[in-house]
Amino acid sequence: MKRVLVSGGAGYIGSHVTVELINAGYDVVVADNMSNCDLTCFEGVKKITGRDDIPFIEMDCCDDAAVADLFSKYRIDAVIHFAAFKAVGESVAEPVKYYRNNLDSFLNILEAAKTHGGCNVLFSSSATVYGETDKLPVTEESPRQPATSPYGNTKQICEDILRDVVKAAAGYDAMEPGADRKGVVKGIALRYFNPIGAHPSALIGELPRGVPNNLVPYITQTAIGKRECLSIFGNDYPTPDGTCLRDYIDVVDLAKAHVAAVGRMLDGKMEESYEIFNIGTGRPVSVLELVNAFEKVNGLKLNYRFAPRRAGDTTAIWADPMRANRELGWKAERTLEETLASAWAWEKHIAGK
Ligand code: WQD
Repeated sequence: MKRVLVSGGAGYIGSHVTVELINAGYDVVVADNMSNCDLTCFEGVKKITGRDDIPFIEMDCCDDAAVADLFSKYRIDAVIHFAAFKAVGESVAEPVKYYRNNLDSFLNILEAAKTHGGCNVLFSSSATVYGETDKLPVTEESPRQPATSPYGNTKQICEDILRDVVKAAAGYDAMEPGADRKGVVKGIALRYFNPIGAHPSALIGELPRGVPNNLVPYITQTAIGKRECLSIFGNDYPTPDGTCLRDYIDVVDLAKAHVAAVGRMLDGKMEESYEIFNIGTGRPVSVLELVNAFEKVNGLKLNYRFAPRRAGDTTAIWADPMRANRELGWKAERTLEETLASAWAWEKHIAGK
């Protein structure tokens, strides 16, 4: 049975991906330093899958010895690398913390992957690499704009690192045709748009520490009474209702895209050694549309106000997901309403309601 290492696997997206990998028949090893989560989601993964034998290693991927030790203990066929800090605003205030953590952790994974027989690496990237653009929807060929935050820059740099590592491995392979393909790494970068929602079981979901930066957890915490009022950052944008447009992708749909990508790598279906896929719905939704949908599907009234724009926000971005639809055989399936209902069910679950 093929084994996948999920670094950052106790987190929001990592835990949903772990569930889908296990459902698809993979062995999974979860590594996480618990800097941005607790064990709630990992416990939920065990309940959902009925598996309490999932190896969990509490470790920091910035610790090269710990990463090497993990690879010496487990034969790893593919890595899905989530372990990174991801708060845009915090990255602006603390750039060194972000570059150190997000780059070192990835470099350690790549180093260990190469040393221990080579494997396939799936990198958790982000639509933030496209920056502000008015050429929408964005395809994988759309140019990356200069990053608007150190967080976004670490995503661009890690994509380039993976591309160069794969190119070097291909070069190695070309130099010595037929040689042992040890150390050859194939890579895929998945560029997510805006992941939202929770598992239908309401046993795993988003657990932001402190005040949520992202829209949907702020909405659900306002609805449950943890927050007083949602501020909609700007209603004077050049969009139909004045609020920003985003491509909100359900986290379970997103997790299934990872399973499709791992299968593509392990089943030798890749056409290039390094491939990029946009993982989105292809449907732009405004902040106000999302708020109205949340109220409607959950039968409640949300307390919100219009506030000034937030620095660094782009007006609009959404995906052209055609390549993922075609090459991965993957398509977003859950409706926005289903996703927002799952987000609300999760918030009520963690509030014990
Ligand atoms: C969405 C919209 C806000 C909060 C970022 C990262 C991306 C990924 C997802 C990590 C914007 C508005 C938000 C609030 C609001 N990061 N908003 N009130 O900024 O599109 O993307 O998070 O995985 O890489 O760039 O997501 O949810 O913060 O904002 O009005 O309280 O909601 O202005 O228009 P964003 P977001």
